[in-house]
Amino acid sequence: MTLSREATDASAAALAALQHAYAPYSHFKVGAALRATDGTVVAGCNVENAAFPAGTCAERGALAAAVATGHRDFDLIVVATDAAEPTPPCGMCRQALAEFAPSLRVIAITMAGKHAEWVLSELLPQPFTPASLSNT
Ligand code: THU
Repeated sequence: MTLSREATDASAAALAALQHAYAPYSHFKVGAALRATDGTVVAGCNVENAAFPAGTCAERGALAAAVATGHRDFDLIVVATDAAEPTPPCGMCRQALAEFAPSLRVIAITMAGKHAEWVLSELLPQPFTPASLSNT
């Protein structure tokens, strides 16, 4: 199966961001690229820290950069790693992404060319959403 054109563009951005990942502790480099519904692609990478919990994931890096440049509507994220198999976003990133795009298309790719695809709602079936705060 080949990737669609828009997925190919986001995949290239995710792989480029992976090259900038700062992962001296885990040695697990991740690049992510979020595609806004206007076609803009915004990338991020994991940024680890000597104080381990202060490190951040690629997906939330991309999300923060996208929101900071005025984007809130997304239809696709591509997550790139050099792992043997494609890896989906971690739980915290699933929750962060669900805030903006509960039905986001999630594609994971490896540097060796493998890929897998999910919809965010199947990775996080019961997200805590803005509506969950409606009783406050
Ligand atoms: N990581 C991500 O950037 N995204 C994920 O979805 C999973 C994990 C990062 C966090 C840490 O820097 C390294 O990968 C190993 O967990």
